Amino acid sequence: MATPTRAIFSSSPRIFFNHTPYTLATLSHFNIGLLKKNRHYNRCCCYRFNRSVAELRSPDLVAFEYAELNLKEKVSEAGHVRIRQHVNPLSASLTIPVQVPNWNEVYGDSTLPLMVDIGSGSGRFLIWLAKRFPESNYLGLEIRNKLVSRAQFWVKELAFNNVHFMFANAMVSFEQLVSSYPGPLVLVSILCPDPHFKKRHHKRRVLQKPLVDSILKNLHPGGRVFLQSDVVEVALDMRNRFDSQSDMLEHITDIDPSVLCDNEGWLLSNPMGIRTEREIHAESEGAKVYRRMYQRRI
Ligand SMILES: C[S@@+](CC[C@H](N)C(=O)[O-])C[C@H]1O[C@@H](n2cnc3c(N)ncnc32)[C@H](O)[C@@H]1O
Repeated sequence: MATPTRAIFSSSPRIFFNHTPYTLATLSHFNIGLLKKNRHYNRCCCYRFNRSVAELRSPDLVAFEYAELNLKEKVSEAGHVRIRQHVNPLSASLTIPVQVPNWNEVYGDSTLPLMVDIGSGSGRFLIWLAKRFPESNYLGLEIRNKLVSRAQFWVKELAFNNVHFMFANAMVSFEQLVSSYPGPLVLVSILCPDPHFKKRHHKRRVLQKPLVDSILKNLHPGGRVFLQSDVVEVALDMRNRFDSQSDMLEHITDIDPSVLCDNEGWLLSNPMGIRTEREIHAESEGAKVYRRMYQRRI
């Protein structure tokens, strides 16, 4: 694996990863402290709009939170996207593994650290990160093709060469995609996955044992896993799968005592600096979002 050389937050006072080949320079944009500051900044900026924001509908809240990407008019250029509510990831057409792309054609520099968002939805979240933290690459895996097409349309419009979306079932294609990527895998997120409430549909939930094993196998030492759901049962299901890997993973609150969680061990805030769309919708309806972040032991 090549070692990325340039720093993202080289001025950060907090060095978590200085004893790994991929120092803070490569992983630091996932530095909780900085992201908390970032979030604080967002909150301050939003403060004076708070009253009017409180009156916005949920889709408007998404547009507001992602305003700096200026994607709104690009939606209409791409055409209105009608999205099916749920897709069955176990349907025959979705169980065919995708072809691994030539990573050198996908990214400007395919040796940069990689973040993978499983079930990337509209893609706004990853596009925002790609803009804010350009010295990493971002890969969104999504089984609703129309969302992938629109996200790729936005990426092209913005001329970003560090973010890419694939129509891919993570249950089927995650392993071959990440194991073929030339750089280190530094962050995997599964954010508000489809809950598939019925017991007989639990097997459709994206996070099953083979995916956990593949994440652990490919995650670089010091790399992180971020999970969240507004459905406590789903959050607990994901949490149990990673809590049981304590020989390989530590929860972030055990590494950095300044990161706070409630007395049940859920993070008090989103450490990424921006909320996902599902998270915005859920919080606008007063729901709690249950979050965990793990780091692979070095
Ligand atoms: C509830 S949405 C959440 C989207 C986004 N993460 C957010 O928080 O706004 C879950 C997404 O995961 C996608 N998805 C479900 N199963 C998947 C799978 N096996 N592989 C890839 N994407 C999947 C769905 O199509 C959907 O867009």
